[in-house]
Amino acid sequence: MPKVRVLSSISTYSRACGEFSAFAAEQARRFHKTIPGYRETPLVSLSCAAGEYGIDSIFVKDESQRFGLKAFKGLGGSYAMFRILCERLGLDPGAADYDTFREAEVRRRCSGVEFVTATDGNHGKGVSWVAKLFGCKAHVYMPKGSVEARRRAIEEAGSAVAEITELNYDMTVEYAALAAERNGWELIQDTAWEGYEKCPRWIIDGYLTLAAEAAEQMGEKKPTHIFMQAGVGAMAGGIEAYFMNKYREEPPLVAIVEPTDVACIYKSVLAGDGKAHSIEGNPQTIMAGLNCGTPCAAVWPILRDCSAYFCACEDSVTEEGMRAYARPLGSDKAIVSGESGAVTYGLLLKILKSDSLREQFKIDEKSVILLINTEGDTDPVNYRKVLGE
Ligand SMILES: Cc1ncc(COP(=O)(O)O)c(C=O)c1O
Repeated sequence: MPKVRVLSSISTYSRACGEFSAFAAEQARRFHKTIPGYRETPLVSLSCAAGEYGIDSIFVKDESQRFGLKAFKGLGGSYAMFRILCERLGLDPGAADYDTFREAEVRRRCSGVEFVTATDGNHGKGVSWVAKLFGCKAHVYMPKGSVEARRRAIEEAGSAVAEITELNYDMTVEYAALAAERNGWELIQDTAWEGYEKCPRWIIDGYLTLAAEAAEQMGEKKPTHIFMQAGVGAMAGGIEAYFMNKYREEPPLVAIVEPTDVACIYKSVLAGDGKAHSIEGNPQTIMAGLNCGTPCAAVWPILRDCSAYFCACEDSVTEEGMRAYARPLGSDKAIVSGESGAVTYGLLLKILKSDSLREQFKIDEKSVILLINTEGDTDPVNYRKVLGE
């Protein structure tokens, strides 16, 4: 079995991109800037690696320290919770920000609100953290096979009670949706389906903060290629749309990267009927954050129509990426990257070492590549194992 499978596609602009605009990003960023602990995450330039492989640049937006949660996910959960609470409390989200939620009367009203979500780790940690910030309660359900350390980390991050179920990821999402209905809790889920779109769209708007920061940090440089890892594809689709809107005249080539056994976006594109398809069963991968069987309905048209490449990678690809980030070339900065964070770098290195793949991905000396390290060592035991420590 090959370690990497690639599907190439003709990318076009999708009208669905319009929603995840610079305006949406600025609204989310305005809110995030008022949250305690907000700091722009670094954009790391791996210039020695770029020089070694004869390309212009490799930029890594390093989310491993976002809000002290070791992953980018808190951006989405925090913004969506803010929007849900604004709606419930009758506040104008264009005028309110986190400071509004410090007022005693607002806090009193928030204390009665309970949230629920399903997660394979990072989203739940973000929800737990932000529920505590807003003074709300949260319930977090995790799929079968979730690591106990990740469950504990969710509870320690904030005010959630977290539980590992006997269900796969998609069924855990259904379970959380039912619990919301039954108990009058607010479902705060990071994927969309027919009839459940508003909250996931706010979550995606929240992710745009990282896109807006990265675009600003890149200055004059425009990305020719963006490699993004996908679970349900909400992060990748939203950020793809942001860059498609920003560089409409000269859009970057976007590659969507998934674990082989749970590559639902790859499988859906391969089916060729324009529809999103699911992966059933209990697929296993060390890329826990990407272990999701159904593409997010809110961004599926963006992923399908605007992406140039769809890639399915085995676990060994991300392990290679984790080691390469940790032990960089020359004076490049070392980056702590976990299983779901490093797969795009592992894949990029494979491409850069192969003439035929370089040609397929249209990579040359002018290429400016943007990667997102979406998590740090969220499973420290496995991280050390992969590094051979
Ligand atoms: C670290 C990490 N990277 C990437 C993703 C993928 O995000 P999405 O499910 O929106 O594709 C996740 C999702 O949980 C994640 O935890």
